[in-house]
Amino acid sequence: MVYLQELVKQKGKNVLKKEQQAWITRLKGMPHKTPFMVTDLAIVHENAKVITEALPRVGIYYAIKSNSDERIIETIDPIVAGYDIASLGEYKHLKNLGVASERMLYSNPVKIPEHIQKTYEGGVRHFAFDSMDEISKLSTYAPGSEVYLRIKVSDYGSRFPLSKKFGVDPLHAVAYMDMAAEKGLKPTGLAFHVGSQSENPHSWAVAFETCGEIIKKLSAVGIDISFINIGGGFPASYTERINSLKQIADIINKSITKHIPDHVKIVAEPGRFISATSSVIVTSVIGRETRGSSDWLFIDMGVFQGLLEPLEIDSWRYPIFTNYGKKAAAFSKSFVLTGPTCDAYDTLGLDYELPSNLKMGDRLYIGSAGAYTKVYASNFNGFSPPKTYYLENQK
Ligand SMILES: Cc1ncc(COP(=O)(O)O)c(C=O)c1O
Repeated sequence: MVYLQELVKQKGKNVLKKEQQAWITRLKGMPHKTPFMVTDLAIVHENAKVITEALPRVGIYYAIKSNSDERIIETIDPIVAGYDIASLGEYKHLKNLGVASERMLYSNPVKIPEHIQKTYEGGVRHFAFDSMDEISKLSTYAPGSEVYLRIKVSDYGSRFPLSKKFGVDPLHAVAYMDMAAEKGLKPTGLAFHVGSQSENPHSWAVAFETCGEIIKKLSAVGIDISFINIGGGFPASYTERINSLKQIADIINKSITKHIPDHVKIVAEPGRFISATSSVIVTSVIGRETRGSSDWLFIDMGVFQGLLEPLEIDSWRYPIFTNYGKKAAAFSKSFVLTGPTCDAYDTLGLDYELPSNLKMGDRLYIGSAGAYTKVYASNFNGFSPPKTYYLENQK
């Protein structure tokens, strides 16, 4: 087996990463019909444990939007403090799994009124906001709730920025919190998100400094902050070098000590970090053709069955490996890798380096496929999302 993405140039060297080597062992004896996903619950457990231990002052609330798989939730439930929810649907999903409403933070800043009403009736008491309309909705449908203001922070260096869509300018924080109090809500929290897959750990440092300043200003007008929700953004390993969680955690832990009063509780909502590396999607080549000067490889799993992130960012690459021998790296070539539907946008990338002799029926393994994949899946063109199989107690 050869892991081929950024490693192709290192011909002859051991091009397999330790994790890919381990996946190869785990995937042996899985002849199921492709495409399918394999989720290793031991990895999910480990990821949840690692982030909990690295951030001792931070309560971990898993963002189920990244992967709402029941087995994942059951696996991490004893480790995490709770969950971030984005909708009534996510609330119901967690309730069906027996999760108490007190362990849910409704962190989507702009919510559907009925969703606020039903989750409030079900016992949710923490809601994010970042607009006047939201204050009005919350005061009507979730009266007296604890609300946290999403502020805009730098998402520079993140692969999936969020600050265009969400967050008020920190300059206006006092005004918004004041208005929430006037409407009978309890403005007790601040929230930010540095953007998903952040490759810039300093974003957190700057965001904490901003929160520290806002806390002082709020205190001067008699509003006490009791918690800060720092969202997600913790990067998972794909094809590019990333900062280790330890590096990020050091910065976060120091920033909390420096800028945030001791009595303020900190919570985080990691999604991708916990779920991405837990899963591999196994797919088969269903056709190969030369179109103009490009070689196209058609596989039975594409954008619309869940691999949507390449549509969001052109340069997004999954780590893809094959069951070709190690020497295949010397005979690799660039392929346009495309999915099975009739839509030209159903394409994972224009320049995937893969063994040159790949042919119909060969399997490709798409690594780090656990986050923001099957939650996106549709049945477009009649293709089903991949079925999931589980591995446990592998470590
Ligand atoms: C409010 C909120 N919390 C948490 C997350 C999870 O982020 P990530 O998967 O980068 O950890 C998101 C992602 O969009 C979010 O919007």
